Amino acid sequence: MVTAQEECPSGFRTIEWKEGKVVMLDQRLLPQREVYRELATVGQVAEAIKKMVIRGAPAIGIAAAMGLALVARNYKGRSMEGLLLRLERGAELLLSTRPTAVNLQWAIRRCLDVAKKARHMKVEEISQLLVEEAQRILREDVEGNVALGDFGASLVPEEGNILTHCNAGALATGGYGTALGVVRSAHRQGKRVRVLACETRPFLQGARLTAWEMKKAGIPVTVIADNMAGHFMKRREVDLVIVGADRIARNGDVANKIGTYTLSVLCKEHSVPFYVAAPLSTFDPSLGSGEEIPIEERDPEEVLRVGRMRIAPEGVSARYPAFDVTPNHLVWAIITEKGILRAPFQERIQALLLNRKV
Ligand code: MRU
Repeated sequence: MVTAQEECPSGFRTIEWKEGKVVMLDQRLLPQREVYRELATVGQVAEAIKKMVIRGAPAIGIAAAMGLALVARNYKGRSMEGLLLRLERGAELLLSTRPTAVNLQWAIRRCLDVAKKARHMKVEEISQLLVEEAQRILREDVEGNVALGDFGASLVPEEGNILTHCNAGALATGGYGTALGVVRSAHRQGKRVRVLACETRPFLQGARLTAWEMKKAGIPVTVIADNMAGHFMKRREVDLVIVGADRIARNGDVANKIGTYTLSVLCKEHSVPFYVAAPLSTFDPSLGSGEEIPIEERDPEEVLRVGRMRIAPEGVSARYPAFDVTPNHLVWAIITEKGILRAPFQERIQALLLNRKV
């Protein structure tokens, strides 16, 4: 049994605040090398998010919160207005890194609120408050994931194959995972679960990251190419699909890694349960539907290569939308740290978010 207080349930640290710096595991180098980067400025944090040193919706929210704490710590002036201005500028820089995951905006809003409410205090005191807030966001994320994982485990059979896409694990969060948090909880409860990890072209989060952290956790994992999912569903080798989310609109439409929508359609055809696991910080009540979610377009060069090797002829173009949107009617349930939501999503999401902090 894992308790919410347990310090590092995954056995490695995706991100932490250490001696006035942000330390994060460089996910671009996994699984070959486990290298930790030490970042001292908000510019370095923004660059790390943009370049995918750290990725995954909750993890980049935590990184942004720590980035703002760095702004405050590095501020040499004494004027409160000066600090607030720097924080606003830091927030803008962080917000410009990746547009789809709403956790980034959520964490930034939460930290700016703390600073604004404390504007009567001394600069050093606010700096300390921001460090504490960033650490609180990290801690709450892990605790929330454990709760979410335990709720989600009730949907998992005693034995079965769980297909997942991308990486919604400890590497994508504060350190337990959403979709893989459910897998971790089911495994801890003694359920004999096996993970089918879609490789997730082109960044290969499934093959590189999900496989790495499941192997480390001692949970059986098999990597499949993205185009094999339908084949295994047809052969009844997939009992359920669980994915994470980058943003969930008010009506329950879900943005997640490109390829998620395809899986949800395949699930419908084969009557395989399709679940989304996400913390409250991933919901965006300001958007009526998934159509309004901004979809990040990344460098198409990545599609034209596998690692360093070019796989398409020179001069050929490519497209790289990094996310897609799954409509709410294809989602069997959304697993959160407060419980499991089923359709009709709109009013249930509204009720769920009533007590959210920001
Ligand atoms: O481009 P990425 O790797 O940041 O995309 C990550 C995902 O799509 C995850 O599934 C999502 O952020 C949920 S992480 C708990």
